[in-house]
Amino acid sequence: MSKVRHLIEPTDLKQQEIEEILELAEKIMEKPEDYAEACKGKLLATLFFEPSTRTRFSFEAAMLRLGGRIIGFSEPNSSAVAKGESVKDTIRTIACYSDIAVIRHPKEGVPRLASKYSDIPVINAGDGGHQHPTQTLTDLLTMKSLKKGLTKHTIGFCGDLKFGRTVHSLVKSLAGFKELSFIFISPPELKIPDYIKEELEEGSYIEISSLDTAMEKLDILYMTRIQRERFLDEGEYMRLKDSYILTNEKLQAAKKDMIIMHPLPRVNEIADEVDNDPRAVYFKQAKYGMYVRMALIIKLLEVEGK
Ligand code: NCD
Repeated sequence: MSKVRHLIEPTDLKQQEIEEILELAEKIMEKPEDYAEACKGKLLATLFFEPSTRTRFSFEAAMLRLGGRIIGFSEPNSSAVAKGESVKDTIRTIACYSDIAVIRHPKEGVPRLASKYSDIPVINAGDGGHQHPTQTLTDLLTMKSLKKGLTKHTIGFCGDLKFGRTVHSLVKSLAGFKELSFIFISPPELKIPDYIKEELEEGSYIEISSLDTAMEKLDILYMTRIQRERFLDEGEYMRLKDSYILTNEKLQAAKKDMIIMHPLPRVNEIADEVDNDPRAVYFKQAKYGMYVRMALIIKLLEVEGK
């Protein structure tokens, strides 16, 4: 048997593997019935130590649509974690019962640690303010499908670039694609960390604080929520929470074929009125998330469609 594969950071997948997963996701979208039994007899475990809607439901829907089954918890207090059991022992136990595990945890590094003690594939579904590789696959599939490929775009990331793990993972991954320009739009307090910027070619990005200044240049606008749960000081959150609010009026300056993405959940950063703009693709993006997770599960479990 080949060595068990985990997905903790986007770089755990080779560039070619990422492209294969995206292509497989597109095939699944076209003909889902060919994959309806790919995971028959397999069990996916979801361990969510932090709240989730899209990530957990899309993983569960993905496994069910592949003909597999699911077990897990979305409330750690209902498991022996509440009695003080370590993540290490929890994953060893879960690995006895299931074939693949998905973990979300508020502490950075916990999914990596869990993977070291697991003989089944472990997927990081978000660890603190660090990484969120399956949202990255979701975002890449959205860009690839709706912007016809993953090169020659100017991409604006707007909001909480300091704590937003989806931004960290996505930028790290986009560094592997060619001819992209990045505009990082955030208040000075919420700038993108240096260790992420270091992945990018010099001259391929700028950092600014005004969304209005960037708007007309963008092919893709990636909005993010200010990550309240990561702030040590609630006062600081209150001061920054409404730094950016995207409205129809602001969008008048944008290209007609720009797309507006958001990993969701949104709080206040995109006005509801924007949902009716054809450029708003964030709910489509959530749907792509299910298909790309189907492709990922197939890849990690080394199973096949028809
Ligand atoms: C994101 C997350 O959990 O990091 N949501 C998601 O997984 N779709 C973004 C966020 O919480 O703001």
